[in-house]
Amino acid sequence: MNNFTLSSSFAKICISLFSFLFAASALTHDDFLHCLSTHVSNSTSTHEPIFYTPNDSLYSSVLNSSIRNSRLSSPSIPKPSVIITPFHVSHVQAIVYCSKKHGMQIRIRSGGHDSEGLSYVSYFKLPGYAVIDLRNLNSVNVDVESKSAWVQAGATLGELYYWIAEKSGNLGFPAGDCHTVGVGGQIGGGGYGYLSRKYGLAADNILDAKLIDAEGRIQDRKSMGEDLFWAIRGGGAASFGIILEWKVRLVPVPSTVTVFDVSRNMENDATKRFVHWWQRRASKVDENLTIFLTFKTAASSNNDTKIGVEVGVRGTFHGGVDKLLELMEKEFPELGLQRRDCSEMRWVESFLFLNQFRSGESLDVLLDRTSYFDFLPRKVKCDFMKEPIPDDALETILGKLFEEDVGRAVISVFPYGGKMNEISESAIPFPHRAGVLYMVYYTLRWEDQEEERHVSWLRRFYNDLTPYASKNPRATYVNSRDLDLGTNNLNEGGTTNITQASIWGTKYFKNNFYKLIYVKTKVDPTNFFTYEQSIPPLLTHSKSH
Ligand SMILES: Cc1cc2nc3c(=O)[nH]c(=O)nc-3n(C[C@H](O)[C@H](O)[C@H](O)COP(=O)(O)OP(=O)(O)OC[C@H]3O[C@@H](n4cnc5c(N)ncnc54)[C@H](O)[C@@H]3O)c2cc1C
Ligand SMILES: *[C@@H]1O[C@H](CO)[C@@H](O)[C@H](O)[C@H]1NC(C)=O
Ligand SMILES: *[C@@H]1O[C@H](CO)[C@@H](O)[C@H](O)[C@H]1NC(C)=O
Ligand SMILES: *[C@@H]1O[C@H](CO)[C@@H](O)[C@H](O)[C@H]1NC(C)=O
Ligand SMILES: *[C@@H]1O[C@H](CO)[C@@H](O)[C@H](O)[C@H]1NC(C)=O
Ligand SMILES: *[C@@H]1O[C@H](CO)[C@@H](O)[C@H](O)[C@H]1NC(C)=O
Ligand SMILES: *[C@@H]1O[C@H](CO)[C@@H](O)[C@H](O)[C@H]1NC(C)=O
Repeated sequence: MNNFTLSSSFAKICISLFSFLFAASALTHDDFLHCLSTHVSNSTSTHEPIFYTPNDSLYSSVLNSSIRNSRLSSPSIPKPSVIITPFHVSHVQAIVYCSKKHGMQIRIRSGGHDSEGLSYVSYFKLPGYAVIDLRNLNSVNVDVESKSAWVQAGATLGELYYWIAEKSGNLGFPAGDCHTVGVGGQIGGGGYGYLSRKYGLAADNILDAKLIDAEGRIQDRKSMGEDLFWAIRGGGAASFGIILEWKVRLVPVPSTVTVFDVSRNMENDATKRFVHWWQRRASKVDENLTIFLTFKTAASSNNDTKIGVEVGVRGTFHGGVDKLLELMEKEFPELGLQRRDCSEMRWVESFLFLNQFRSGESLDVLLDRTSYFDFLPRKVKCDFMKEPIPDDALETILGKLFEEDVGRAVISVFPYGGKMNEISESAIPFPHRAGVLYMVYYTLRWEDQEEERHVSWLRRFYNDLTPYASKNPRATYVNSRDLDLGTNNLNEGGTTNITQASIWGTKYFKNNFYKLIYVKTKVDPTNFFTYEQSIPPLLTHSKSH
């Protein structure tokens, strides 16, 4: 037999295998959709369709509706074969039932801010997958008397803050400041914000939850049990179930808070001294005061030449301006904060200020999911620092922001301490607690098409920071998801290898990773809820049949 016949018969086998797979996948897809239409009751008052396939004219805009990072909407990125937008909890149950029955893998999307897009992108080598987009399940029910609220997973933080403020000016919730982020994803991974030094993470303030488990059952805290309730608060809920609602504990906030947002030039000696002192002190000051820093290059007003490093200093204080100025003079005199830099406002208004909306903008923008600063392609990485970066090293690091390949880099720095120190590493899966001085986010955006060049720069930069970052493991935050850390095996729908998964798993969760595996094995042994960085179950024999 010559090579030609060998390869041509091989090709034939491949072609028939391919058509078999193709037919099977088309069948799966059609059967799945058929199953959905028969199991989703038509009792909703709206006439909007519940699912969209690539043939539907609205498919792209529904898919794009919560993608804020255009790296993840480019044509080369995998797209779902169907997007489902349930209006009712029973619809979500039907989706789980039908996807199990017809072998359709799912992704769960709330706010869509995942930094690798894993709520709507699947890199698994499968013929298709479905996205469950929870945007219509976004009600918020605030109970002032019990200082709690039930918030559906598809609500944004802006919606949560808005509806809390509608009911009370003296209640708040400690979560992130970006109003378009979803509560489904953020609380499932932790949720750090301006109130965290005082009250901990969003996930530290969850009283109850409702989810749909791998069997399609609705569970609450009592019925799911404490192990599963532990896992979904910071372990990345998408490995365990579909969160429908969180019951959140509301925390007291004063009638007015004081905020400021100033910038300084890093060339200035007083600024340098402020930054060095901030590293040592920001995690130890009064927990009513939280000061975030951002570092980025400033460009000349005539051309794009980078002329220096600008330090943004943004703070909130739970108290009045007089008290704040007194405290700043004592703690951070080098900043020279002035009364004219400060504004007193309601707690909820501080989110408009911190998101840089015009002053006087209506609170309604908190309900607007489309208002967002930009859609540039981006990639993020994150570190936890336990030691201050020495002065000369910091200068070298900031010098790298002037390198050719950068694009637009922003280094954002968030102080820990306070309540974050008091919560044990294993209280919930989020383990970054006592000993952390601050968390650093490296956000890189670019305006050209040269993704590889910029992302390579970010990888080198991250590598150069190794000596100053946490060690054994070099810890990071699951809510700044990074596929560079590794993934489950992309073949066969994401086969898992615990040794391999522990490389990234221990970076996100430290030793809590092993308890997460235990919970996963107990509640989802056949790995129905799977994605590139989902928690793997220990092998059981139930998978084979
Ligand atoms: C501009 C910006 C600002 C940010 N600011 C902060 C901040 O201040 N503090 C902070 O802690 N983080 C912050 N983050 C990170 C953010 O918290 C995470 O990206 C978070 O996971 C986003 O949640 P989401 O619902 O919007 O995302 P999605 O992309 O919808 O989901 C993220 C992950 O959670 C899963 N998931 C979503 N909904 C559910 C559900 N209902 N049930 C089970 N699993 C679900 C998804 O499958 C995916 O794995 C920020 C991110 C961005 C882009
Ligand atoms: C919903 O409506 C569609 C079309 O109107 C119909 O084919 C389907 O059977 C209905 N499903 C249920 C569960 O009533
Ligand atoms: C989408 O449209 C194409 C071409 O019009 C058709 O062949 C295909 O069957 C359609 N797919 C679905 C899922 O409707
Ligand atoms: C989705 O977003 C991408 C990139 O931002 C854009 O190119 C595309 O046109 C958008 N599609 C729709 C339907 O808005
Ligand atoms: C924070 O503010 C509250 C309310 O004004 C006050 O009771 C508390 O003492 C302050 N915390 C610290 C550490 O000063
Ligand atoms: C950019 O503008 C600055 C003045 O702000 C000037 O000194 C510099 O030479 C200009 N650079 C280029 C490349 O034109
Ligand atoms: C699991 O991953 C480890 C580390 O990458 C590798 O050494 C090992 O061979 C893998 N095991 C299996 C069964 O694939």
